[in-house]
Amino acid sequence: MRILLYTGKGGVGKTSTSAATALRCAGLGYRTAVLSTDPAHSLGDSFDRRIGNELVELAPNLWGQEIDLLNQMDKYWGRVQGYLNTLFAWQGMDGLVAEESSVLPGMEELASLMQITYLADSGNYDVIIIDAAPTGSTLQLLSFPDMARWYIEKVFPFQRKTIQLARPVVKRFSDMPIPDEDVFDSIEELVAYLERMSVLLSDPQVSSMRVVLNPEKMVVKEAQRAYTYLNLYGYPVDAVVCNRVFPQQLSDSYFDLWKSAQAENLQLVRDAFHPLPIFEVPFFAQEVTGMAMLQQMADTLYGPAGKAMRGGEGDPTRYFYIGKPQEIFRQDGAYVLSIPLPLVEREQVHLHRSVFDELIVRIGNWKRNIALPLGLAKLEIAGAKYVEDRLNISFALDAQQELPPEELKSTTWQTLKARFGGKKP
Ligand SMILES: Nc1ncnc2c1ncn2[C@@H]1O[C@H](COP(=O)(O)OP(=O)(O)O)[C@@H](O)[C@H]1O
Ligand SMILES: [Mg+2]
Repeated sequence: MRILLYTGKGGVGKTSTSAATALRCAGLGYRTAVLSTDPAHSLGDSFDRRIGNELVELAPNLWGQEIDLLNQMDKYWGRVQGYLNTLFAWQGMDGLVAEESSVLPGMEELASLMQITYLADSGNYDVIIIDAAPTGSTLQLLSFPDMARWYIEKVFPFQRKTIQLARPVVKRFSDMPIPDEDVFDSIEELVAYLERMSVLLSDPQVSSMRVVLNPEKMVVKEAQRAYTYLNLYGYPVDAVVCNRVFPQQLSDSYFDLWKSAQAENLQLVRDAFHPLPIFEVPFFAQEVTGMAMLQQMADTLYGPAGKAMRGGEGDPTRYFYIGKPQEIFRQDGAYVLSIPLPLVEREQVHLHRSVFDELIVRIGNWKRNIALPLGLAKLEIAGAKYVEDRLNISFALDAQQELPPEELKSTTWQTLKARFGGKKP
């Protein structure tokens, strides 16, 4: 099963690219679902028909859905939100403020990603294509497993076991609202979904993220930033789609300036995203709407449909670039944790350790908590440096100290399980 996620600034062509890709995948015989998580839905416009909050069949092997964020959020967070409302109100918070505080920032978008997890685990699809919200909120949402963990620890004042013991006592002495069992069930389900989502989206075997952009300076800058953050969170990016390139045969001198600016910006794109492949799509003579235009877009993106083969030429599910995600290796008497981090501006990175033995990497407003493998969590950070486009963080060791391999494995799930007693879906 493959998950292909297309992201980029509003208007660059994410929906068109996602729809065209979905059509090609379905044409190759893959059972394909295309989901739009952008609240500014336009998947329906691309296919020139109405698509709603339920999966609908668009063509043989092809289903589409425009996810309704509020509906989705209510489904996953409704019970917890209900409880938090009561709790905050009991604490004297004004009704409206309580209501707003009980919704996690980014929760709506997050719920839409849970739908992806749900479909992925249903086993009904070979390919899931995501037409993601414009860059900012997608990134916020991808940092969610980190954020939700933090939020739940800080805001949710009870542990399940504690409550089971304390419930009768609290009931006698206080009218403080106590969460029901099903509130805990909801939270555990949520955390399990988050973890599963994070595992799926950061697994380069399963997921490929593709940055969609136009050859315009502002758009390229923003896309570069997005690329940095995707790397920061460990999500595999394998291609760039450069859409709306004015074709060379355009002879009208009116477009001369545009053409030379685009040529310059295309070079900027190649430099900034090297070694990722760049797929160029021309500015078509008309909008990309309806099956015929989507076919044409798929042909320019992946090559002619007639020559396309499953697993080979013209197949959008191929891995267009295989890079190394997070790595741990031994070097000069230290363990080095290496993460790909191609930066727009280098000086912005801040590193520190949290009280939970996590490594916090902060770039501007973006923060990632990396749950350190057990072995590394015990060691001091000795330093960090850039080696090409990677940030290498070294952890000091005593002269001959050697860590057993199992202590170098990621501990995110173990940490969560210890904290919530959760079960994996
Ligand atoms: N290469 C192209 N040539 C001509 N029109 C395009 C091209 N790519 C996208 N469009 C049109 O531009 C508009 C915005 O594209 P869309 O895919 O909806 O962008 P996004 O999803 O990124 O907001 C749509 O009307 C679409 O048909
Ligand atoms: Mg769109």
